[in-house]
Amino acid sequence: MKIGILRETKIPPDNRVPLTPEQCRQIEADYPGIKIIVQSSKNRCFNDKAYTKKGIAENQAKIIVCEGNFHGRTITIVSMSTDPDAKKDFGPFTPGFITIPYNDIPALEKELKDPNVAGFLVEPIQGEAGVFVPDEGYLKKAYDLCKANNVLFIADEVQTGIARTGKLLAVDHEGVHADILILGKAISGGVMPVSAVLADDEIMLCIKPGEHGSTFGGNPIANKVAIAALEVVKDEKLAENAEKLGQIFRKELKNIDSDRIEMVRGKGLLNAIAIKPVSYTHLTLPTKRIV
Ligand SMILES: Cc1ncc(COP(=O)(O)O)c(C=O)c1O
Repeated sequence: MKIGILRETKIPPDNRVPLTPEQCRQIEADYPGIKIIVQSSKNRCFNDKAYTKKGIAENQAKIIVCEGNFHGRTITIVSMSTDPDAKKDFGPFTPGFITIPYNDIPALEKELKDPNVAGFLVEPIQGEAGVFVPDEGYLKKAYDLCKANNVLFIADEVQTGIARTGKLLAVDHEGVHADILILGKAISGGVMPVSAVLADDEIMLCIKPGEHGSTFGGNPIANKVAIAALEVVKDEKLAENAEKLGQIFRKELKNIDSDRIEMVRGKGLLNAIAIKPVSYTHLTLPTKRIV
């Protein structure tokens, strides 16, 4: 993973982040595995590596995604959605996605046999879909299968990342080091619009100077805010706090004596209560406005 662009790098100057090498080394020491952040519009590097490194024929690369996913609202992103509300009246859509059920290792294994698959994009916990926590071991097995098939494991941690689930990253629960990590929201403490795609040089440098940019990319203030927010997360032990409070929260919710509660699920402070659907046919509703 990467935070702030430093050292010798071929990343174009507009995308560089003004951190001193000392600051970068400090961040690297504090957050093992993290090296550089490139502020980014998220999509560019997925397929690039597939063409330049894996040798997939032009325009043939595919990305495996999961049913019930939520990765945002741009056209390519809603193209991979299975939510009719996200797609209706927004086409035409971007091709190249294979959809499999979430939390389904055999389905992933089958689709990974396709040599044109470049990446597997997954939320470690499906947030918008209803806080679906996959089976323990799912992420690690999926990661190992991706490695064995020379496919990038791409974790969308926009919702699960930065201490929310009781670890800095939700993939940390299973010791997975995603090839590409997508962060947003909490990375700036919710104060500045910052999102980031993180990857090692082998992947990130597939994007050549001039191939990627954005008007506000590499914004120094935004990066300072993101660094300050990460410091708060560390200093105030917010991951440990989320783990501790999440345990209490779920325990107390489970203690509620109600036949409407079907299930309580979640990790850290990302939780959901599944409510049993109820039929109102037995109720006599007023036919006129009372007030
Ligand atoms: C899991 C996940 N991915 C991606 C996004 C989209 O992020 P943005 O709104 O910054 O494009 C969201 C937004 O809620 C999200 O929850």
